Amino acid sequence: MIISEHSEADIHRLVHDFYAQVRQHEKLGPVFNAHINDWDTHLNTMVDFWSSLLLKTARYTGSPMIKHGRIPELSADLFETWLSLFDQTTARHPNQVLAAQARSYAQRIARSLWMGHQITNNPSVTPLELHHGTN
Ligand code: HEM
Repeated sequence: MIISEHSEADIHRLVHDFYAQVRQHEKLGPVFNAHINDWDTHLNTMVDFWSSLLLKTARYTGSPMIKHGRIPELSADLFETWLSLFDQTTARHPNQVLAAQARSYAQRIARSLWMGHQITNNPSVTPLELHHGTN
């Protein structure tokens, strides 16, 4: 597959626009800022993650499930807020084909991270689904 620079630039913009909003958000900002010391490293990781998903570059090799399982503040409400903010910021992205694909991945991954978080932290309770995008 040929990877155009334009697409890498699209991913860079998507990630940087989204986390600029996250950092200022009244609910999400404090949680991210409590866990992330080095934002440049986090942003580079997130560019690699989205590039792996959307451009199949295989640059990301981490374990998001384990990392999110260790964030005690996570809740259904927080994931739904994350998804709403992702919808809002990606709606302004100039490449709407890429943005729509990113939104679809984000919904699936958020659901799976939330399931994993509940199973890891509350194994005796039946895990609950997110409602984002279902009503
Ligand atoms: C409320 C929702 C979320 C919160 C508060 C959150 C928070 C965080 C934090 C604090 C980290 C850094 C963890 C660390 O370095 O130890 C992180 C990493 C990451 N997050 Fe999230 N996240 C959320 C949702 C998501 C979603 C929906 C996705 C995917 C679509 C995602 C993908 C990632 C990835 C790929 C990493 C990098 C993990 C690694 O270091 O390999 N996150 N997140």
